[in-house]
Amino acid sequence: MEGVLLTVAYLVAGVLFILSLRGLSSQETARRGNLYGIIGMMVALGAALSSSAVNAYSYVGIAILAGTGVGSVLALRVKMTAMPELVAMLHSFVGAAAALVGFASYFGDPHAAGAARSIHLVETYIAVAIGALTFTGSVIAFLKLRGTLSGKPLLLPGRHGLNLALLVGLVWCAVLFVKAPGVQGVVPLGIATALASVLGIHLVVAIGGADMPVVVSLLNSYSGWTASAAGFMLQNDLLIVTGALVGSSGAILSVIMCRAMNRSIWNVVFSGFGSAPPKKAAAPAASTEALTVNETSVEETAEALLASKAVIIVPGYGLAVARAQHTVCEMTKILRKRDIEVRFAIHPVAGRLPGHMNVLLAEAAVPYDIVLEMDEINDDFPDTDTVMVIGANDIVNPGAQTDESSPIYGMPVLEVWNAKRVVMLKRSRAAGYAGVDNPLFYKRNTEMLFGDAGDSISKLVAILREKA
Ligand code: TAP
Repeated sequence: MEGVLLTVAYLVAGVLFILSLRGLSSQETARRGNLYGIIGMMVALGAALSSSAVNAYSYVGIAILAGTGVGSVLALRVKMTAMPELVAMLHSFVGAAAALVGFASYFGDPHAAGAARSIHLVETYIAVAIGALTFTGSVIAFLKLRGTLSGKPLLLPGRHGLNLALLVGLVWCAVLFVKAPGVQGVVPLGIATALASVLGIHLVVAIGGADMPVVVSLLNSYSGWTASAAGFMLQNDLLIVTGALVGSSGAILSVIMCRAMNRSIWNVVFSGFGSAPPKKAAAPAASTEALTVNETSVEETAEALLASKAVIIVPGYGLAVARAQHTVCEMTKILRKRDIEVRFAIHPVAGRLPGHMNVLLAEAAVPYDIVLEMDEINDDFPDTDTVMVIGANDIVNPGAQTDESSPIYGMPVLEVWNAKRVVMLKRSRAAGYAGVDNPLFYKRNTEMLFGDAGDSISKLVAILREKA
């Protein structure tokens, strides 16, 4: 009877997790999606804890209290700009947990004989190896995103050979592990943990620059597959299903991000961002320092906005840094009240994590129907009077279409330069995340409004209110 109830509870939780993922796929339903996820997790946890297999309640209680405490403090304190770091850290916990549970399961199991034993050992081995790789890879991603380690890819000579040797070592250890009698397999399992840990470090140190968010999403996928392998090891159907959901959604998200940057997953994982020789030698460009930009003022920008019929706002990472979403929303309201069409253009990799800009705009209650994806709005720039690029850089870089020597060459970008006027709000001429110059600064129809975007927009709102 208990088994039936447990299966039903796990089934309900699994369905709720699927509904949660579905809900998270659009802004309108994201809140509901989160709620489904929370209820699903509570059902799963309640069912697991009430099963007769669990009796060490004091240990479980301590773990839940510690986890809730650490999780709550981290979630309350984290800044939006540091979300990728937090996510990387959380993946490292999943990896470490799977590896540790794998060891515990190996020592704690009765080790049945024959094929069943071999299958169980393979499951344990996979959970430990992917868990160790996910753990060290995520810690390196966390340190890189935090800036503790350099964001540049570290490309060792013969790195592909090293990866291959580590993989061969892992396969060899797997054979020794499965063949070993009793618990003697602990030696190959320990060596495999070390090899997978080195592989995790090596794979992630070799990736850098603008590719880090893809790495975080890939590690998300690995953490899902680790959990799935742990589910097989522990014969827990819900863990298998949930792990597969996380693994596949992380993999799909990674592919979507790569497509948005016109790269392949293989290229991201194995080539090292910006390390490839240019496809074509760059023309000896004049130092951008020597080029002049058109500077503008808040007053002139206010005039330009009020004289426009159609305005498009392109938010980027700097909007998150300046925490200017509420003032941008305020400005949008004022302009729309004057019958000026205002829309937002969202690049798929704007900011530092998928949906970063959508979350910020939703937080400020910008209506969803004026927030458009790149493909929906890219053709509308020629009919737009003013484009305001707020803290964005790489996603509006025309060099991605014209400069074959650029590391972001081929990445689809928002073609803002086709508008009648472009106003760029940023603090300096500094490059964006990809570290490449942006020829947009020097175009004739571009005006630079230097300063913190939050300050500039607050001043703009004050002037617009006065004039309204
Ligand atoms: P970036 O290219 O990083 O540019 C952000 C700009 O914001 C900077 O040039 C900076 O210039 C400006 N800025 C920073 N703080 C500011 C402030 N307080 N006020 C005004 N401006 C400020 O950002 P993006 O255009 O959003 O592009 C995203 C990058 O991340 C791309 O390279 C993309 O490939 C990469 N990436 C993102 C993702 C996801 S999922 N989002 C995934 C993979 C890769 P100043 O310092 O001069 O102010």
